[in-house]
Amino acid sequence: MTRQQINDKANDLLSKLTLPEKVAQIMQLSYAHMDEKERRMWIERGIGSLLHVMGSDAQRFQDMTLETKHKIPLIFGIDCVRGHAMNPKATVFPCCLGMASSFNTELVERACEIAAREVTEDALHMVFSPVLCLGRDTRWGRVDETFGEDPYLSGELGAAMVKGYQGNGEMRKDTGVIACAKHYLAHGESMGGRDSYDVVLTHRKILEVFAPPYKKVVDAGCKSIMTAYQTIDGLPCTANKWLLKDLLRDEMGFEGFVITDWDNTGRLVWQQFASPDMRHAAKTAIEAGNDMIMSTPDFYEAAISMVENGELDESVVDESVLRVLKVKLEMDLFGEKRSQFHNIKNPSMACEEHLKINEELTNQTVVMLENKNNTLPLSKDIRKIAVIGPNADCISSQYGDWTFYTHPLPDFTKVPETVNITIWDGIKSIAEKSNIKAELTKWDGPVSVYYRGEAPDPNDIQSLHRAADTSDIKNANQNLPDINKILKNCEGADVVIAVIGDDPTLNGEERDRANLDLPEAQQKMLEAVKEAGHKLIIVGITGKPLTVKWAKENADAMLWTFCPGAYGGSAVAGVLFGEKNPSARLPISFPLHVGQLPVYYNQLPGWHGGKYIDLPKESLYTFGYGLSYSEFEYTGLECPGRIKAESTEDINISVTVTNKSNMDGTTVAQLYFRDMVSTISTPVKQFKGFKRVFLKAGESRKISMTLPMAELAIIDHNLQRIIEKGTFNLIVGDGKYLEKEFTVV
Ligand code: BGC
Repeated sequence: MTRQQINDKANDLLSKLTLPEKVAQIMQLSYAHMDEKERRMWIERGIGSLLHVMGSDAQRFQDMTLETKHKIPLIFGIDCVRGHAMNPKATVFPCCLGMASSFNTELVERACEIAAREVTEDALHMVFSPVLCLGRDTRWGRVDETFGEDPYLSGELGAAMVKGYQGNGEMRKDTGVIACAKHYLAHGESMGGRDSYDVVLTHRKILEVFAPPYKKVVDAGCKSIMTAYQTIDGLPCTANKWLLKDLLRDEMGFEGFVITDWDNTGRLVWQQFASPDMRHAAKTAIEAGNDMIMSTPDFYEAAISMVENGELDESVVDESVLRVLKVKLEMDLFGEKRSQFHNIKNPSMACEEHLKINEELTNQTVVMLENKNNTLPLSKDIRKIAVIGPNADCISSQYGDWTFYTHPLPDFTKVPETVNITIWDGIKSIAEKSNIKAELTKWDGPVSVYYRGEAPDPNDIQSLHRAADTSDIKNANQNLPDINKILKNCEGADVVIAVIGDDPTLNGEERDRANLDLPEAQQKMLEAVKEAGHKLIIVGITGKPLTVKWAKENADAMLWTFCPGAYGGSAVAGVLFGEKNPSARLPISFPLHVGQLPVYYNQLPGWHGGKYIDLPKESLYTFGYGLSYSEFEYTGLECPGRIKAESTEDINISVTVTNKSNMDGTTVAQLYFRDMVSTISTPVKQFKGFKRVFLKAGESRKISMTLPMAELAIIDHNLQRIIEKGTFNLIVGDGKYLEKEFTVV
């Protein structure tokens, strides 16, 4: 269909709808939170969308819409932030922070194409992804959903995801689904790391740091954007016209529809006290620029009554209806997509090809943080390995939040119905074929960690899950594991592998933490093993960075991977035994202590005194850090010395990279710059490019990278994006960096 045909058809449909039908068309309600009678009532009213339903249940309701007067198909939305993770039968990729550690846009795009195919087979059309929030305050519970702390990386990976879900350019005919970038805007910046609290930001800072990733997904054609829960400078995002209209539509050129987050409209009344009642909240939300209202059933009567009383102009509702209808038409929901579920001849859910991509991506998410005295890869002479710790054999910790364990309703009795390899599985499998004795000590510590197939009473778990995080931590600190038993099992081991971290009760939505230390039980275990004189290898499985100073100082080697999912075990074991050379880098900095937060790398210079009196200012591990078994050398950095400020061409940069070791490996070439003098104080370093480069042992290659001219711009105090003349320092490398100046004239 041409653009014109889509417009005409959408307008034609709109002209046939009554006011209540229009209001219903721009609503999305949760299937899981309604009974069958309510669901049918909403279908009869002509609701436009449902969320959290899949497969034959979804298709049943889609088919029901064929019986309605206007036969306008439903959009089914799902939280598919890392593959179709709410379905235990589907391919569940590492969490987004894990995926970001790969610095691999191609594979991330491919993963999202797979996710799109799998949700399509479940009759669904919209994925609430990518998440473009920045993980700059790691106390926030939802850091696992982000691509880390850097706006450039988030924008690049977000755009790759949009292309994967929807298609590159046009919506993919068969398996394209609507991407929904969220949470617009700066949801991760809430004060104190408190989810959905107030964010204090200026318009300038928004334009400089938080809007650019959205601009990239808009340019990639993203069809929907989700409004954040929180306020910015006291104004709820749901009510922020400047954000939703001026910036998003007028400046960035967004053409899709805006959807609220869960009951954002209701929250204007009951949580943010910004509207006196639901009627006014409905008017505020829709006038501010929200097109689809998620999970606020009362919006229906409220919006109708506002229009009928002349307090809300019907044309505002019409605009939103049109936007929703256009996307439905663009994605062919009136055609084949609508009956996709019945037509799938060769289901691909978790097929070999999808699992293979998942495995490949997961292999690229293991970050080697420490490797003292070349402890890794494990020596061929090793005869006995002791494997300990709560995350050694715990698939739910590997999966984490926004998987079937936690959504639509928490249920830790569920098990993945496709390949899943715990860290223990991975180690055991390589140890067996290498004739090494490996022994697992089952964790008998706190109950906030769940074992595959041995979940405790679900009622207990669910109540624990719902409990405030403080009580979770208290729980995690009580019931210390039997340390004597652990030590006994470690006797005679050449190496002890301690798999530690957090779990879905300690990270995820509504699970912000004020303390980022390891639970006491785990810390005590590590110290006891060290004190007994063992060689200690630590493997961290978490949803975000923790404060692990002791581990850094005392581990002989340390690997870290953020909720790696199904293939976490084989990926980690592959690195431990040297079958794989680690190639992941940190997309986020680790604080040394929670009191240092924020520790993101791209801070402004200029701190009187330059440090705390009781803590250094440096993070424990910084953005971009990660070791390899290979040794890479960067030489011969080249770039033009003088560049015209008016130039619109990319700046071409080249550098020679050499693998000086006898092991093939991948370096992540990272490009940063510093604007040496500008009217606005700019960060000490800004990340602006990356390239994964595979080099055979001894190989040397000249690589090229580009720095788009527009990336040099600052947002000045008049909120103008301008390129100022002057000197810039180019910084390129991986761990060690070369620098070269260039001047904008
Ligand atoms: C989350 C969103 C999610 C929505 C629907 C909200 O609580 O903030 O990220 O997409 O629920 O599940």
